[in-house]
Amino acid sequence: MKKQYLLTPGPTPIPPEVALKEALPILHHRTNEFAAIYKDVAESLKYVFQTKNEVFLLAGSGTGAMEMAVTNILSPGDEVIVAGCGNFGDRWIKIAETYGVKVISASAPWGNVVKPAEIEKALKANPNIKAVYTTSTETSTGVVNDIKAIGEIVAKTNAVLVVDTISGLAGQEFKMDEWKVDVTVSGSQKGLMLAPGLAFISLSEKAWKLTETSKIPKFYFDIKKYKKSYATNETPFTPPVTLIVALQESLRLIKERGIENVWNDCKLLAKAARAGMQALGLELFGEVPCEVVTSAKVPEEIGGKIVKTLREKYGVSIAGGQADLKGKIIRFAHMGYIGKADLLVGFACLEMVLVELGMKIEKGKAVAAAEEALLNG
Ligand SMILES: Cc1ncc(COP(=O)(O)O)c(C=O)c1O
Repeated sequence: MKKQYLLTPGPTPIPPEVALKEALPILHHRTNEFAAIYKDVAESLKYVFQTKNEVFLLAGSGTGAMEMAVTNILSPGDEVIVAGCGNFGDRWIKIAETYGVKVISASAPWGNVVKPAEIEKALKANPNIKAVYTTSTETSTGVVNDIKAIGEIVAKTNAVLVVDTISGLAGQEFKMDEWKVDVTVSGSQKGLMLAPGLAFISLSEKAWKLTETSKIPKFYFDIKKYKKSYATNETPFTPPVTLIVALQESLRLIKERGIENVWNDCKLLAKAARAGMQALGLELFGEVPCEVVTSAKVPEEIGGKIVKTLREKYGVSIAGGQADLKGKIIRFAHMGYIGKADLLVGFACLEMVLVELGMKIEKGKAVAAAEEALLNG
């Protein structure tokens, strides 16, 4: 029997208190009992999103909420800016183009961060832009974009700012209202410490105005249906009741810790992970590393084998690179229920795997560097 350590940037491990809730008998969703849970969850989500706006829950993965953030505010032929810097930023382009929306790029190369000045330039050159789509933490490369600076720029125009916080929420600092974000989307399987299957979306007043003119066809993902049901603490369709019951518990844990402390915990783990990678002689990847996942370059001869060997031999799951970065980077997550001890276990096993794959490293150095960072904050 092998114990599993999940250090991937989603799904992430689930705390036992939360997992136990998933085992409870199913509730019917048109009952006062469920409505009370839904109401509590909806309020707590506002705290995590740092918003006064309603946060809607839907059955689906994060991409479902991304699609909703396109189909509910736009019409075919509309022009938008996509400012991405990796695989998930590119997803905005694919969704928008699927619905006949014209995309103007203000994207940065993978590994870099989005440049707010590029967005400003694109907005000035294209006055009809309806929305700017970007990503908080770009999980595929491990960087974080300056959402606050982008928010200041977009707020001065008629366009709305749409941000993917699927991997960043409850990990990387994010303040929807203060940072002038109009649409935020997220998912359950990362900082929120839940199984995959729930997605979230929240709209500002400015974004709601666009829903009035949006002509892209939609049925299941029609946000107006969700808003109508929200008024009676319901969802328009059968919700993933089990996940919502468990979400109440994970949100309780987050509130108990305090969102600023949650951000700071991830910051400290990120510091330790960066120190660990560097102690192994691995160069960190990404222009501005985020605090929920650490990426480092690995020698290409062994790049493809590290993730597989770690998982198969030691039960430790980390992530490799995606698309062009396949075999070139490794990604080590530190969000949600991933703690200091998990990080040290991860580095100890990574050291063994690197030795086994023939890399000349000094055993114990990464663990010592990570310990040092954890001890000294
Ligand atoms: C930043 C980001 N955006 C979008 C997604 C896609 O989310 P999902 O797989 O839940 O649809 C992910 C998932 O890893 C992500 O990290």
